[in-house]
Amino acid sequence: MDAITLLLERRSCAALQAPAPEGEALTVILQAALRVPDFQRLRPYHFILASGDGLDRLGALMARAAVATDRSPEEIERARRMPHRAPLVIVVVSRYRPSLIVSRFEQHLSAGCAVMAMQMAAVAQGFGGIWRSGWLMFDRGLHTALHLEQDDHIIGFLYLGTPTLAPSKPIPTVDVNNYVRWL
Ligand SMILES: Cc1cc2nc3c(=O)[nH]c(=O)nc-3n(C[C@H](O)[C@H](O)[C@H](O)COP(=O)(O)O)c2cc1C
Repeated sequence: MDAITLLLERRSCAALQAPAPEGEALTVILQAALRVPDFQRLRPYHFILASGDGLDRLGALMARAAVATDRSPEEIERARRMPHRAPLVIVVVSRYRPSLIVSRFEQHLSAGCAVMAMQMAAVAQGFGGIWRSGWLMFDRGLHTALHLEQDDHIIGFLYLGTPTLAPSKPIPTVDVNNYVRWL
């Protein structure tokens, strides 16, 4: 797949099954994350990967966060099952590196680019994925359970695997002129 086709025709995919990217394919995905635009090469990211039993462990931590925040029994069970929607979940953390030059905002942007780069590297290798968020991203209890640092932000849960279905219909092309003006 050439780069323009990848950028213009890529689709997110929520229906994912095994196999997940592993070995060399997974290394390529992580290398893509570490090659995004990154002012001063601060590498302001940290990636927590879960597959196999790791999905159970992540689900247990999410369920515990739901209990600790007084969620309903349904929400607690939903949190427990959440990671099992794909065979590989990458918790993407924006890890602020103190800098007089590169602001926190810029570092978060770089971490966001890492999510996109990983998703594209997965798609380019025949896998699928979806960038998800939700309340758990902001839950301090989950941060603590994942041993995150004080200044860390979870910026997404990247679900990766093999698509179970072909995308239903193409996304209509948007008129770029609605989003553009020239000075
Ligand atoms: C920061 C961010 C958070 C997102 N969170 C969710 C989410 O929690 N659940 C979801 O279904 N889609 C979420 N999305 C949207 C999907 O990743 C995806 O872009 C959307 O389903 C549209 O599909 P497409 O990428 O094929 O256009 C999020 C996207 C971004 C950028």
